Amino acid sequence: MVVLKTGLITESEEFISNYQYNKSLNKNIQALSYNVQNKRDDNILKQHEKRGKLLARDRIRLLIDNKSTFLEFSTLAANDKYENQFPGAGIVTGLGVINGMETVIIANDSTVKGGTYVYETIKKHLRAQEIALRNNLPVVYLVDSGGVYLPEQANVYPDSDHFGKIFYNQARLSAERIPQIALVMGLCTAGGAYIPAMSDESIIVKDIGSIFLAGPPLVKAATGEIVTAEDLGGAIVHTSISGVADHLADNEEDALLLCRNIFKHFNKPQKQPLDKKESKEPLYPIDDIYGLIPLNIRKGFNMYEIIARLVDGSCFQEFKTNYGKSIITGFARIMGYNVGIIANNGILFPESTLKATHFIELCCSRNIPLVFLQNIVGFMVGKEYEHKGIAKDGAKMIQAVATANVPKFTIIIGASSGAGNYAMAGRAYKPNLLFIWPNAKTSVMGAEQAAQVLISIKRKNKESNVPMTDEEEKLKQKILSDFETESSALYSTSRLWDDGIIDPVDTRKVLAIGISMSLNKPFPEPKPGVYRM
Ligand code: COA
Repeated sequence: MVVLKTGLITESEEFISNYQYNKSLNKNIQALSYNVQNKRDDNILKQHEKRGKLLARDRIRLLIDNKSTFLEFSTLAANDKYENQFPGAGIVTGLGVINGMETVIIANDSTVKGGTYVYETIKKHLRAQEIALRNNLPVVYLVDSGGVYLPEQANVYPDSDHFGKIFYNQARLSAERIPQIALVMGLCTAGGAYIPAMSDESIIVKDIGSIFLAGPPLVKAATGEIVTAEDLGGAIVHTSISGVADHLADNEEDALLLCRNIFKHFNKPQKQPLDKKESKEPLYPIDDIYGLIPLNIRKGFNMYEIIARLVDGSCFQEFKTNYGKSIITGFARIMGYNVGIIANNGILFPESTLKATHFIELCCSRNIPLVFLQNIVGFMVGKEYEHKGIAKDGAKMIQAVATANVPKFTIIIGASSGAGNYAMAGRAYKPNLLFIWPNAKTSVMGAEQAAQVLISIKRKNKESNVPMTDEEEKLKQKILSDFETESSALYSTSRLWDDGIIDPVDTRKVLAIGISMSLNKPFPEPKPGVYRM
């Protein structure tokens, strides 16, 4: 095991300006997250309190074990969309611990448009269920929602990954014997009524919770029947007449305690064995990372310096140090957990992809989770590399990533472009969790290259040395500006291409929580596909 050395000069001008820039990027994300989590119109908050209701995050705090951490997913979903009227997409999802069991919690935030669902709300809800399914975790639903946000119905209602998938997922979770508990703490209407109905056990709060397929106004319109919400589908109705809910709670605190008590009788799953030692801090300050990341992400940086600040004791058992040097592979520990790390240190060449493929196979055969640290602009292009068969070597790495039987965790710490995004366990490759740093840039290629490609294909005269016309210059500026916006971490997280933006200094903790979570599901036997040789 080698202790990684550092060559970082923290007094250099470059370090200081990087540090200030990245720190301020991070502060901006924290401020936005704070607002999403805490800022609401005073009248809405007062009304909520008057009804005897707790806020979504306060409910979660009471539900999880005292002093335990709640790892929130996608806090900034729907950021800068819908005129910012859907902070956090009106739903809180994340991983918490209830009576010692790692659990996915999905809580509607009724202070946001009555907890109704726009596209990102559904995506966030479905992603949380997917995390539960992939990691064998119980789910608690804190239901308080008016269902579909009607003006957006065409974007949320009928398609395969729309509202109906929530209940499809509930059925699949149930078939996997994964416990699901619903706490009805507000309205639970239309399709939403199926959430408690499809859960293993449901709790409803007196005078606050109600469940119905159609609310009183719709019933009146449809049948002429006049009925109050309480008489139609209140807590007493459902716990004593219909049987749609199982437990009556006097108030929200009571409901949360009841849920904790239900958890006391679950059998805890046997965790997948994974070697774990006592956690050790890295030898170098983690916040040096702010100074390491260059202002222009395409400039590149020394990934060994990042690894040295993420792994226990800065110790790294490297694999193939001198071969395929544009990718770094090796074993290390993150807060004690044994992991295999794959990190970019330049463009992907044929040798680097073969080395990564070999390393993924090692981890799969030894049952060691993989951590991908992405800073990749893509695969090497050009005649020499096409003739060497870079496409078939890249295909091997993609094949290995897609079929790996061990949990995968991806952190986009810099650029994420081209097929490099795929080979390094991008979103489509189903890493158990994928987080990004505030400086991350995700786009199919760099903005300059995209502008060049688009201008050259539009030109009748394909000569590249012809000076640009005014129109072409305008097009170039537009592409540069669009790419700048669309590649940003905020743009990505708003659309749930990731599970959230994290402060680089929290990376170790987030990874450790994720690794521990993933051990709830036994790793299957390796089952590789056909590798093109
Ligand atoms: N679609 C669109 N907007 C909705 C909505 C829905 N389903 N439900 C609520 N809203 C909006 C309201 O118009 C209001 O918007 P505003 O802040 O711009 O005025 C906001 O959400 C809050 O609703 P409000 O009724 O003021 O809050 P509330 O806390 O008193 O009640 C509900 C919340 C959800 C109980 C109530 O609005 C309701 O019953 N909504 C209709 C539910 C329904 O029938 N859904 C069927 C969908 S499948």
